[in-house]
Amino acid sequence: MKPREYFSAYQQQYLNELIELVSIPSISTMPDHLPDVRRAAEWVKAQMQAAGLTARLYETEGHPIVYGEWLEVAAGAPTVLIYGHYDVQPVDPISEWQSEPFTPAVRDGNLYGRGTSDDKGQFFAHLKAAHSILQADGRLPVNVKFVIEGEEEIGSTHLGAFIRDHRALLATDVVVVSDTQSRSLDLPAIVYSLRGMCYMELEISGPDHDLHSGSFGGVVHNPAQALCEIIAGLHNPDGSVAVPGFYDDVRALDDAERSELGRFPYTEEAFRHDTGAPASWGEQGYLLHERTGARPTLEVNGLISGWTGTGAKTVLPARALAKISCRLVADQDPARIYEIMKAHIAHITPPTVHSDLRLLHTGRSAFTDRRSPVMQAAIAAFEEGWGAAPVFWREGGSIPIVSDFQEVLGAPVVLMGFGLPDDGPHGPNEKFTLECFWRGIATSISFLHQMAR
Ligand code: BES
Ligand code: ZN
Repeated sequence: MKPREYFSAYQQQYLNELIELVSIPSISTMPDHLPDVRRAAEWVKAQMQAAGLTARLYETEGHPIVYGEWLEVAAGAPTVLIYGHYDVQPVDPISEWQSEPFTPAVRDGNLYGRGTSDDKGQFFAHLKAAHSILQADGRLPVNVKFVIEGEEEIGSTHLGAFIRDHRALLATDVVVVSDTQSRSLDLPAIVYSLRGMCYMELEISGPDHDLHSGSFGGVVHNPAQALCEIIAGLHNPDGSVAVPGFYDDVRALDDAERSELGRFPYTEEAFRHDTGAPASWGEQGYLLHERTGARPTLEVNGLISGWTGTGAKTVLPARALAKISCRLVADQDPARIYEIMKAHIAHITPPTVHSDLRLLHTGRSAFTDRRSPVMQAAIAAFEEGWGAAPVFWREGGSIPIVSDFQEVLGAPVVLMGFGLPDDGPHGPNEKFTLECFWRGIATSISFLHQMAR
């Protein structure tokens, strides 16, 4: 039996296994879910062993790293390292889910559940590809290593040190990451640029306790209002970021790249389908995919202050908090962005309140070489396995460990995403289209064979 025939015969079983994995609420940022995160790691390890790999957990000060390998091809044969993450994002707003986030449900050819697309379904496709080949052929065409971590969604806090401490263990000819998206089912994409990240928390405080808003409204500068005023000062009316020096180190898009990306532009229509927003917004002078792929931006991820329960409470809150992140591009340094943000916020904070900007985590942007030979293998794999040639694309999201892989292991990275633009990662009703799961497995099978050539 050929690997692809094997996997066709076992599709339903693979789907059931993915459902089991998605059922584990491995939310890395929530301490309450610590046991679930570990359960997911153990589950992935057991799946690697069932596929025929040797696998173990590596403990970190945070969540464990699952490592698996199959290295029985003669010395000198290429090695492929596959990276993914078993941790997921929180599920709120929970009331907007049509089915429970951790009770995966199939509707209209999609599997709904938190983590289905980001990233459980995607890395699992590679594991099932290895499984299928091993079952069908008894051996893999190349040596394979898996690194599946549990902290990607919180900035890969401990994986960087792990990579630096385990260079020999992780030595490889290519790193494959499936944690991105195609342009559409029939237009797969190889992402060659990911944005970096500088995640901060801004706290504004004023009075030393919450006050009656009748007694003190109009005489105390309300921290909630001051926070809004400060946030309003972070952008210019033309949508650009108002922090001095913010764009200093940005590497410009050249005309050739601009026109290549422009062959399949991100249209206003697709934007509305994916977001439901009434109209697009952002930095003037750049197309939508240029704004997210090639320009740095600043986002408010959350606001906390005062009374947020149902009904009314009159109160003048003592504090207000915003979660602010900057998405960065080459060659911006996240540490420098934090410094200029601190200076700017201090500068625009009025004397009536205090401000404190704290750094939560950073990650560098990544840029991969579109002309490396492994890209040819990836292109051929999409053609054979997915059934269509991929386009090269710049992604607005971040995968902070990619630049460490490049730097420490000195290996080329291929970002071959199996998700779709409307998968809804991080939001309610996240889904993974089953067709993407099947095509992802076929693409991975093909890639491992391409790499043997
Ligand atoms: N899979 C995403 C990255 C991504 C997002 C790819 C959107 C394609 C489209 C990844 O799991 C992720 O969400 N990363 C975080 C990293 C951050 C916490 C440093 C992100 O981009 O917010
Ligand atoms: Zn994510």
